[in-house]
Amino acid sequence: MFFPAYRPRRLRRNEKLRALVRETELSVNHLVYPLFVVPGKGVKEEVTSMPGVFRFSVDRLADEAREIADLGIPAVILFGIPEKKDEIGSGAYAKRGIVQRAIEAIKKATPELLVITDVCLCEYTSHGHCGIIKDGEVENDLTLEQLARTAVSHAKAGADMVAPSDMMDGRVGRIREALDEAGFSHIPIMSYAVKYCSSFYGPFREAAESAPQFGDRRSYQMDPANAREALREATLDVEEGADILMVKPALPYLDIIKTLRESFNHPIAAYQVSGEYAMLKAAGQNGWLDEERAVLESLLCIRRAGADIILTYFAKEIASKIS
Ligand code: PBG
Repeated sequence: MFFPAYRPRRLRRNEKLRALVRETELSVNHLVYPLFVVPGKGVKEEVTSMPGVFRFSVDRLADEAREIADLGIPAVILFGIPEKKDEIGSGAYAKRGIVQRAIEAIKKATPELLVITDVCLCEYTSHGHCGIIKDGEVENDLTLEQLARTAVSHAKAGADMVAPSDMMDGRVGRIREALDEAGFSHIPIMSYAVKYCSSFYGPFREAAESAPQFGDRRSYQMDPANAREALREATLDVEEGADILMVKPALPYLDIIKTLRESFNHPIAAYQVSGEYAMLKAAGQNGWLDEERAVLESLLCIRRAGADIILTYFAKEIASKIS
């Protein structure tokens, strides 16, 4: 079947034909919108390195949640910035903590909107690391207890799903056990199974005030050079009870998304992170790229690689363009 018997252009002649044979669709049903929640009242402030992305105080969340739900976006993922940070990140599981109150406010305003919570300590620790520090290092097993408490406190506040992003060993299993014991066996875990130590998180750390105060995250997040290790990480999380496997970042790691898609039958999520957003935004604002087309293409490609779910800061902007 070679030229001229097979002419691929025959099926590209017009939009109806192209749509008929299109292999991948982008739909709002697969999008998750990240939300940053800050202390205070009446706050809606733009993140400098992420134009179009805002940080909200709890009292401003109801209106925002309504807008998001009305756009048909099914879910948000919450990140909280506490009033006070400490060595052990106790704000992460405080009963009236920032995320706990945010969940309540959103669920009250828009019960139909799924609320996913990021489970991590870095926004809550004074040193900015994702776990408890002992002798200058992030101590894995002590941290697991803090993460489990945090996940349970989110579930108690009404979260629909928890998403651990800390990259400690064994955290999915420990969180699963704690949720089950507390009566939340129905709450799924979306694991940041394959989270790389990436420079593309820069703008997020400004938004979440979570940059490490010493060192970096290389002793717990993955080395960008490694692909086989991604399979080992994902296998562990599946064995520990993860319901959804996430790859993060997305666009520079499409090969990893594809590998996970081919190796597991679990739903796969991909996080188009803050740096990916910032790059596309900056190029768009400068007129160097057609932002809308570039954004839609990048999201479509993430889907084509095998992601079922995409977490993206573009969700609101593009929802009405794809629905
Ligand atoms: C918390 C966390 C981070 C992101 C999501 N959860 C930051 C980090 O690991 O430093 C990054 C999200 C983004 O860049 O958009 N650990």
